[in-house]
Amino acid sequence: MSNKFQVLDSLECADNILSGQCLADRLNISRVAVWKHIKALQNEGYNIESTSKGYRLIADCDVIDKEVLQKIAAKDLQFELFDKLDSSNTYLKSIAHKCHEGHVVIAKTQTAGKGRLGRSFYSPDTAGIYMSVLLKPKLNINNTGLITAMSAVAVCEAISIETNIDCSIKWVNDLYYRNKKICGILCEAGYNMELARLDYVVIGIGINVYKSPLPHDIANIATYLLDKHQYNMRNKIIARILERLMYNYKYIESKQFINEYRKRCFIIGKDINVLKPNTSQKARAIDIDDNCRLLVEYENNNKEYLNSGEISIKL
Ligand code: BTN
Repeated sequence: MSNKFQVLDSLECADNILSGQCLADRLNISRVAVWKHIKALQNEGYNIESTSKGYRLIADCDVIDKEVLQKIAAKDLQFELFDKLDSSNTYLKSIAHKCHEGHVVIAKTQTAGKGRLGRSFYSPDTAGIYMSVLLKPKLNINNTGLITAMSAVAVCEAISIETNIDCSIKWVNDLYYRNKKICGILCEAGYNMELARLDYVVIGIGINVYKSPLPHDIANIATYLLDKHQYNMRNKIIARILERLMYNYKYIESKQFINEYRKRCFIIGKDINVLKPNTSQKARAIDIDDNCRLLVEYENNNKEYLNSGEISIKL
């Protein structure tokens, strides 16, 4: 544990103000060193009140912190945390060949966050979670589509456990709360042609955790989970997503998580539009099969299983 983290830990455990001398004695460092760690923590976003009597942590801040993550998440995961990246998916893909499964990249903000179908993903600082997870699946190629679905379930489970908010899923991998999108998932894969198998999968997860002014084009369709910053909340959500994700992944071939996916998928039985390049066709969403394909019935009674792609629904 670094000295900076020990200063934080002491402040978290204290009921009251802790003097610089008391912290210095506990950690066996100088008061100047204590002050430097306090400054570093404040710069990272921790709200630490500094008075003539000492220091006090005010728990109205939520800082994504690598040491906290390493402490609360599974020990076989490796974290990289950046203040800013163009896209955590792009970065993780560029280093995937030299990383182990369970490498996690988190960006506090993204300048070119990527969404599905070539869209961008708005990723403002202090408001969200923008993370990418590396998997190296030895899966039957027919089952790789399940990775997206099990990720959506893992994020729903994590949000439910940590915030008590129940999100629903819009096939295939958008998470909704109060009829608006709060999370998008973009899975990208590297395919080895010679071996005819996947080299890696990068699961990119973007969650709007806190309120932040939204750009005009998404203001009516996107929302956020929580009104106020809650201490450590994003670290807890990230660690819990990883726990649920790795669990669902371990048992992916059993397809257990599909039941939870079906329960949370709010489009079943509803009228939707199936969007293909240059066409939009009215249909009814009938079911999700065991490969997470969406069965739809068109107005002419023809049925089709959709593997991926886009649908729209009036909410
Ligand atoms: C979508 O809604 O279309 C998918 C959005 C996925 C966004 C996440 S944020 C972390 C990761 N890095 C990216 O550039 N995109 C994904």
